[in-house]
Amino acid sequence: MSINQSIKPVSVEEKENLTIGGCDLVDLAKRYGTPLYVIDEATLRGICRDYKNAFKNYTNIKMMYASKALCTSAIVRILDEEGFGFDTVSAGEIYTVFKSGVDMAKVLFNGSNKSEKEIELALECNVGRFSVDNFYEAELLNKISEEKGKKADILLRITPGIECHTHDYIQTGQIDSKFGFDLSQVDDIVGLIINKYKNLNLRGLHAHIGSQIFETQSYYDEVEILVKEIARIKAKFGLNLDEINIGGGLGVKYTDADNPPSVDVLADAVTRALDKFAVEAKTIYIEPGRSIISTSGVTLYTVGSSKQVPNGRKYVAVDGGMADNPRPSMYQAKYTAQVANKIKFDETEKVTIAGRYCESGDILIEEIELPKLEAGDILCVYNTGAYNYSMASNYNRVEKPAMVLVNNSLSDIIVYRETLDNLISHDNIPDRLLR
Ligand code: LLP
Repeated sequence: MSINQSIKPVSVEEKENLTIGGCDLVDLAKRYGTPLYVIDEATLRGICRDYKNAFKNYTNIKMMYASKALCTSAIVRILDEEGFGFDTVSAGEIYTVFKSGVDMAKVLFNGSNKSEKEIELALECNVGRFSVDNFYEAELLNKISEEKGKKADILLRITPGIECHTHDYIQTGQIDSKFGFDLSQVDDIVGLIINKYKNLNLRGLHAHIGSQIFETQSYYDEVEILVKEIARIKAKFGLNLDEINIGGGLGVKYTDADNPPSVDVLADAVTRALDKFAVEAKTIYIEPGRSIISTSGVTLYTVGSSKQVPNGRKYVAVDGGMADNPRPSMYQAKYTAQVANKIKFDETEKVTIAGRYCESGDILIEEIELPKLEAGDILCVYNTGAYNYSMASNYNRVEKPAMVLVNNSLSDIIVYRETLDNLISHDNIPDRLLR
């Protein structure tokens, strides 16, 4: 069993109250306020080790954390210490990684519409690899590299035509996708790189087949497609590409209904394919995001109002919702929760956890059996480490929550709670409106 197969962080304990990392969650809520993102360092380091162990016999595999899942300076530091590189997709992520002191050779810059400014920053920071997504970007990257007197090491992002069973919005490897070169376009772009783009150095191919993936056969198929494509390019153009990037996507367990494969099972599918197709590639990149950070994160909320619909369901509202976790309203994502201050209660009821935002769709959890809730209770929602803070907004002009890191009974702020002044700090009132 690996950590992505568990709903809760490894250090969770049911004492008088629920604790994580030796910290009482009710105390954390009092001390830092709610909503509060809590990250368990032991879980995060544990899954990093699960990944390293699973691939330990393959020294040419490089693990790149997909920082879009959660990118803050402290998280970057931990991943860096654990030996991960970084898959970044914006100037913001590159800057965060750079400022955290990471060796930028371990950084890959991904994305389907990188701006000139972002490309310039990436070149100035000397990021190790660019994953080139389309013809426009190849031209732009070559031009900017030439202006800067640099040569960019690139992978080509291709669309391998693999459909995984996941939510439509997070499928990416199928043919009709906004990402990457269709296989029929590969020869054209390789030809351009050889004949025209002298400031691009083609090192290999990249694909990403989707997210929250439960079937590892898709990875096997993906490696086969990438390897065969590399062989075809070698035969046609005489180019030796020695890197492949298989993307991220391994699923996690949000509820008991989810049964994601372990990291070992993923590694088995990938390495079986590498062995079978005799990959000579010097470097195989894998870029997991969700499976690295999701399980280590929980969100604490304070319970407020409730409403019993006559002959209908009971809504219980918490002080956060779709702005700190947009996943239920965007993807119908399901979550598991527990009441941090009501471990030993046995009187339960079925409730729907509603968010505080002015939108009917702002429901965090539909129909969950919990101890009878009262205002002031602290609700702990599990598995919110990935794509919660990173997709958070200020909808309804609400401040984004703080984030704390817990370990060995210590808690430290890693992201400060936004203040009301933060919210207006980017506003400007034109002179003509000033009284
Ligand atoms: N590599 C590439 C090129 C990607 O596009 C992604 C995710 C990853 C790696 C990491 O995938 P992961 O291991 O996290 O599944 N917001 C959605 C997920 C979007 C994923 C986008 N790309 C969600 O909340 O489910």
